[in-house]
Amino acid sequence: MICRILLLIILTSCVSGSFVVNVTQTSYQAEENHNITLEWTFTTKPDRSNKTLNIFCELFISNNVSVLYHVHEGVEVSESQDEKFSGRVQSDKDALREGRIRLQLSRLRTDDSGLYLCEVNTDYGFSIGRCRLNVTGAKNSKEKYWEKVKNALAGGQIAGIILAGLMVLIGEIVDPKFFINKGVREETTSDADETTVPLQLLAGDGSEGSEVTHLEA
Ligand SMILES: *[C@@H]1O[C@H](CO)[C@@H](O)[C@H](O)[C@H]1NC(C)=O
Ligand SMILES: *[C@@H]1O[C@H](CO)[C@@H](O)[C@H](O)[C@H]1NC(C)=O
Ligand SMILES: *[C@@H]1O[C@H](CO)[C@@H](O)[C@H](O)[C@H]1NC(C)=O
Ligand SMILES: *[C@@H]1O[C@H](CO)[C@@H](O)[C@H](O)[C@H]1NC(C)=O
Ligand SMILES: *[C@@H]1O[C@H](CO)[C@@H](O)[C@H](O)[C@H]1NC(C)=O
Repeated sequence: MICRILLLIILTSCVSGSFVVNVTQTSYQAEENHNITLEWTFTTKPDRSNKTLNIFCELFISNNVSVLYHVHEGVEVSESQDEKFSGRVQSDKDALREGRIRLQLSRLRTDDSGLYLCEVNTDYGFSIGRCRLNVTGAKNSKEKYWEKVKNALAGGQIAGIILAGLMVLIGEIVDPKFFINKGVREETTSDADETTVPLQLLAGDGSEGSEVTHLEA
């Protein structure tokens, strides 16, 4: 009895050991409305027909399960797909023949985030591969700008920011309007000075001369 159980354990571990489902990436990061390709690879046997190939790919969020992709006896079954993924999953049939499950998920939503699991069942083995997807909300331009500033600060590019700030200030000083106004004002005042000073001198000379003549008289 114990021997039989041991044999069973050894046999099952042998079977599961020869058949694997791998993930090319254990976690994916993406932004809302973008596309992403999730990929799994499984052991293939060239002499086997795909008639015994069964695949179930599902998204797990807490206790909620949604079917993403289903292959039953070598045939894709779109009816099993959760409406949440309807029209958003593109499978690569050529890759599948080589043992690669490549699923392009388009128009990503934040609620696509979670644990993705693909179970592959064949007449020569059964296994599961899992990966995580994290979809973040699309950022607006203001958020993107502050993220850049934050990244620049984190990267020690403070000098660059100060320089950029100085450039803005210099840009305002070098504003042609600023110079034109100043130049015109300077020109008019200097003109006035040049013309008024000699007149005053002349007038002063004249009055002094007249005073002197008065005193003399
Ligand atoms: C799975 O990964 C292991 C270890 O990286 C590798 O040796 C094996 O060839 C892979 N198998 C498949 C089917 O991708
Ligand atoms: C589970 O998923 C379905 C379909 O995606 C959704 O309508 C439902 O609200 C979800 N339930 C919970 C508890 O997240
Ligand atoms: C299974 O094989 C048949 C015939 O070669 C092919 O038409 C079909 O696309 C294959 N199915 C999958 C899921 O690879
Ligand atoms: C996303 O996928 C859809 C459908 O496959 C395609 O029309 C679109 O051009 C893709 N967008 C990007 C940014 O790759
Ligand atoms: C998803 O990505 C965001 C932004 O990188 C990060 O803040 C958050 O912690 C991630 N969530 C999970 C569950 O990994």
